[in-house]
Amino acid sequence: MTTPEQIKFAHTPTGGECIAGVALTDAKRASKWPAYVDVAQSVTGLILGLFLFCHMAFTSSIQLGKDVFWNLCQISGGRPIFGAEQTWLHFVFVGVITLCVIIHALCALRRFPTSYKQYRDIRGHVALVHHSDTSLWFIQLCTAVVLTGMVFPHVMGMLTAPSTIDANLSSVHTYHNGMIWTLIFLVATELHGMIGLYRLAVKWDVVKGRAHGLRKTMVVVALAMIACGSLTAWTFYSNGAELAGTPAASQHYTTTNVWSINK
Ligand code: HEM
Repeated sequence: MTTPEQIKFAHTPTGGECIAGVALTDAKRASKWPAYVDVAQSVTGLILGLFLFCHMAFTSSIQLGKDVFWNLCQISGGRPIFGAEQTWLHFVFVGVITLCVIIHALCALRRFPTSYKQYRDIRGHVALVHHSDTSLWFIQLCTAVVLTGMVFPHVMGMLTAPSTIDANLSSVHTYHNGMIWTLIFLVATELHGMIGLYRLAVKWDVVKGRAHGLRKTMVVVALAMIACGSLTAWTFYSNGAELAGTPAASQHYTTTNVWSINK
């Protein structure tokens, strides 16, 4: 039996209903899950985007010397509270960030093209619309693919051996990874993170129509982060190159300059 025409075409949606989904509340089986997933993606994206600034401050402390980096590791490892570094605290911290990365990636999966045809449609759409925000979305897609491959090896090393977050061991690790790997990882991370924060501000209308100015600011901040991160990566790399092949390459850095408060 086919649905009678007068029922099938009883209601022709208006432009507003089609575009803004005004009548979705009346739709049968309307689910709230896409909205929940969208909010989860935004919240974890915001946490990770802001985390990147803390991460940059933390890793770049090596520029001020291994002692500064050592003391920061001790503080995040709870020395001021417990009197000595607790590696389980590093595990918990890295674990929480990793969980955010996993939730964020799972929520974002539904936006990925699932066939070559869909991918080609996206490329066509980007070329047709020719708008910076659409192009930025495409950069997000490409950097997300790169990050999915690179971020898990990075955090897994720290999850399985939290004590290796160390001025000497992290340097040797960067040396063995090589500058090319590190720079690709850095550029993908900063582009994805900074474009992501910009898109969040536009999406949740924080900018109130000032997207153009914010876009320029975002590009400047992303370039500054890439420049700063490159210098930091180079410092880790050259420290690692000095240590590689010596007994110190497998030993934790020790300092006499302890300013991370003892209990
Ligand atoms: C709590 C979690 C994390 C900790 C403790 C941490 C720690 C570190 C440390 C110590 C380094 C220096 C060299 C090395 O060991 O590779 C580093 C480098 C790096 N990390 Fe992380 N990381 C964390 C999570 C992340 C995440 C989630 C991302 C990306 C989304 C990321 C991106 C990078 C990049 C691009 C570099 C190399 C460039 C640079 O030195 O700035 N990290 N990280």
